[in-house]
Amino acid sequence: MKIAITAASGQLGRAIVKALINHPAKPEVIGISRRPDTLKTQPIEFRRGDYMDRPSYLKALQGIDVVLLVSGMDHPSKRIQQHRNVIEASVETGVKKIVYTSIVGNAEDAGFSPVVSSNRQTEQDVRESGLDWSIGRNGLYIEPDIEYVENYIAAGKIANCAGEGKCGYTTRDELGFAYAEMLLNKKHNGQTYNLSGSAITQRELTDLFNTHFGIKLEYEDMTVEAYRSQRQEELGDFLGGIIGGIYEGIRMGFSDVSSDFMQAAGRDHIDWDSFFRHANQKRESI
Ligand SMILES: NC(=O)c1ccc[n+]([C@@H]2O[C@H](COP(=O)([O-])OP(=O)(O)OC[C@H]3O[C@@H](n4cnc5c(N)ncnc54)[C@H](OP(=O)(O)O)[C@@H]3O)[C@@H](O)[C@H]2O)c1
Repeated sequence: MKIAITAASGQLGRAIVKALINHPAKPEVIGISRRPDTLKTQPIEFRRGDYMDRPSYLKALQGIDVVLLVSGMDHPSKRIQQHRNVIEASVETGVKKIVYTSIVGNAEDAGFSPVVSSNRQTEQDVRESGLDWSIGRNGLYIEPDIEYVENYIAAGKIANCAGEGKCGYTTRDELGFAYAEMLLNKKHNGQTYNLSGSAITQRELTDLFNTHFGIKLEYEDMTVEAYRSQRQEELGDFLGGIIGGIYEGIRMGFSDVSSDFMQAAGRDHIDWDSFFRHANQKRESI
């Protein structure tokens, strides 16, 4: 079976490629990227493909049986057509199945909703493509919090507008494991899964850092408006608005969903104590 992974140069794409390469089924894996040169370090065939450029995907998907479509990073108004370019090229080149990486969240009531809504439209396009399909709705990646820890330590706190809302975080490696199963196993066809670990509040996240990193952080609950403007000042209107909207969504309970990780992956999601213990060991070894 020939499986193509889009955005294979990205962190999620690389995690899915790694899980497939290590899978006992040993599928043939093709990585697609706008910059195929960046894939040269991986032991796979690589091809060029740009979501903006449908003909590039008509070429890249020749001879492919299954496609993993990683959700794009562009403005939500552009994403739907970009994803359609890949879906339509899949149909035209005779791909049999498409697996899409979507996102958990509410499509209407928060600052992050335009992104969620564009993902829901692509889910519908995938379901209506006529191909076999499987969809994962990813929880929030927890790795950016780990990467940000020195900033948290400098500030002495984690401050955002999530309040007491619970968030079903996940990791890219856990997603890679689940997507490998969804790509390889027919029993996942026609299924939409929430892919996340156990849901935690920001205070529980703070406690995990304190327990496993031996540090002393506090959690500060900010208003949605104050947090959004702070993020926009640092990251610009678009990205700052998205980050503000994500935490607003957590506050509103939109990230507190029941997880289908076990159904998708065939095993439990990593627990947060184990993940943080391991993350601190890695930090100390650097
Ligand atoms: N669940 C979460 O917490 C969360 C957080 C952030 C993002 N996301 C979503 O998850 C996706 C993957 O995350 P990640 O961590 O792997 O992001 P990442 O490391 O920043 O990688 C982004 C990938 O998108 C590709 N890409 C961007 N524009 C493209 C285009 N026009 N055509 C083809 N490929 C394009 C890039 O490929 P090139 O090599 O071609 O540049 C790169 O491989 C993101 O795209 C976003 O939709 C989820």
